[in-house]
Amino acid sequence: MILRIAYLVASLAIIIRCIRADPAPDITTLEEGYAYIVKLACRGCPFLYQDSSAGKDVPWESRNDENALLLNVSLPYDRPILEINHAPIWPVSKVLPRIHATQVLSDFSVTDLAKLIEYGQLEAGHETSSGGAIFGLSYHSSIHHAAGHEAMVIYFDVFEVWSGLPDRPLTVQLDGKDGEQKMVKIVVLKRPVLSALESRESGWEIVTVELVSREGEKFQQEMKFLEWDSFGQIGTPTHAASSFFSAFLEWLDSGVMALFVFIFALVGIFVVLCLFCIFGCDLCGDEYEKAQHGKKRKKSWPNNDLEHGKGKFRSAEELGLLGRGLGGQVVGVGKSD
Ligand SMILES: *[C@@H]1O[C@H](CO)[C@@H](O)[C@H](O)[C@H]1NC(C)=O
Repeated sequence: MILRIAYLVASLAIIIRCIRADPAPDITTLEEGYAYIVKLACRGCPFLYQDSSAGKDVPWESRNDENALLLNVSLPYDRPILEINHAPIWPVSKVLPRIHATQVLSDFSVTDLAKLIEYGQLEAGHETSSGGAIFGLSYHSSIHHAAGHEAMVIYFDVFEVWSGLPDRPLTVQLDGKDGEQKMVKIVVLKRPVLSALESRESGWEIVTVELVSREGEKFQQEMKFLEWDSFGQIGTPTHAASSFFSAFLEWLDSGVMALFVFIFALVGIFVVLCLFCIFGCDLCGDEYEKAQHGKKRKKSWPNNDLEHGKGKFRSAEELGLLGRGLGGQVVGVGKSD
């Protein structure tokens, strides 16, 4: 009996070890139609690692080991946006997003992957024996409509990776000569509208995620990691405009906003006061204005009686304007007429 138990325990241990060592597949489905993890083999990339047994803050080193990049391909239920590692790649925006990916060894196991997912560290640096370096991706992408806009085929090809982790930053071209380097092909499909409550826009789901040969694809977009930042391609007018706008927003955000509001309030009060003065004075000067207006109209007749006008003008003096020291002005106005 004891022997049998010992045998059972031993075989269980072997089975568990086998499962643990099972390398993760190229495509792991987390949620059918919405969430996938792609393990994209990185041809020609050195494997970066940190020998943490030698203490903290040791430099990153590289060795030649087959490795792969992890891509989190997801499509939220409520929005038609396809994301790779949190970066929206469809629909295409003017500013192509920067995408980072974690590097792992090719035989990265299912268990390790499950752990990364559980701890939400898929796109964060993590130091395990199987890797954890973060790379910035330079990529091509293109999007093709199919079946009359009811389906989209999205190609995503990483052609270069960059890492600033080693002392000397590293840039590696992904080897495409022998057709070994694969790209990601994603097909998304418009879901049939099942209920009236569902908005039409949101009805998309991922049908397939696969790795295919990148040969023959003419890519529509290109994003070079070092030439782009969050405002777009450095040196282009779009970049200049959006970085200026963002700097302006930041400036407003940095407490100057309060001052700005204060100044605006002051200007507002000033304007209200001005308006009040203008309209207020308009009311005061109404009678005089009317008199002037009437005079002008009468003058426009060819057989104008100057004496009449004078009489009117005098009546203004009689109103007491002269007495208040405004006489000069009034006379002036009369003359200019
Ligand atoms: C993958 O990305 C989506 C959104 O971009 C996120 O909600 C999800 O948690 C990510 N999955 C993993 C396993 O990190």
